[in-house]
Amino acid sequence: MRPATAVLMVGLPGAGKTTRARHLEQHLPALRLSPDEWMTPLYGDLFSDLVGDPQAAGKRDVLEGRLLWTALRAAEQGLNVIIDFGLWAREERHALHQLFTAVGARCRTEYLAVDPHTQLARVRARAARTPGQAFALSAQDLARWREDFEEPTAEELAGALPPAAPPPHRSWAAWAAARWPSLCDTHADSIG
Ligand SMILES: Nc1ncnc2c1ncn2[C@@H]1O[C@H](COP(=O)(O)OP(=O)(O)OP(=O)(O)O)[C@@H](O)[C@H]1O
Ligand SMILES: [Mg+2]
Repeated sequence: MRPATAVLMVGLPGAGKTTRARHLEQHLPALRLSPDEWMTPLYGDLFSDLVGDPQAAGKRDVLEGRLLWTALRAAEQGLNVIIDFGLWAREERHALHQLFTAVGARCRTEYLAVDPHTQLARVRARAARTPGQAFALSAQDLARWREDFEEPTAEELAGALPPAAPPPHRSWAAWAAARWPSLCDTHADSIG
């Protein structure tokens, strides 16, 4: 069986991740997992977590954990997967790289960079085109989030092996289980 490819889509809002992921979905082909497409059907709201509803933020984490659980099982069966989460934190990317590699997949990161001016124009145009589905993010929100975003390094983009997981986590799997508690298989003690 050919090893699956797992693609981690990385970038800020409006960078073009989902657009690129839809292209890859057709051309790899691959199972694309974009949480935004699940939030509204499941919870009736895509963005409440972004404006400070702690319960909604938890919902997105639960959803992402289950999507990752699905993606890891699919990749283990040889199916290509696209993780369209944004993955702002380097540790998230390290953990997923480790987890997908552990199930026999090749993991790569696709980083979509976007300059602030283009980003603002895109999110405004998207909000105008799809009212109710896309949020009119302010320039201030975007500037603040840009500071939180950990840009992938050249090593990461070249597919370098992640460093050891940070203490107290004994592995990246343990780190991931803390970050996304619903990733744990409820029928097993651990994900590895
Ligand atoms: N390469 C591009 N050139 C011009 N416009 C683009 C490009 N990529 C995406 N867009 C447009 O920018 C907007 C945002 O793109 P997209 O939804 O793919 O971003 P995203 O990174 O998934 O954002 P989010 O994190 O908010 O989900 C869309 O309206 C899309 O049509
Ligand atoms: Mg998107």
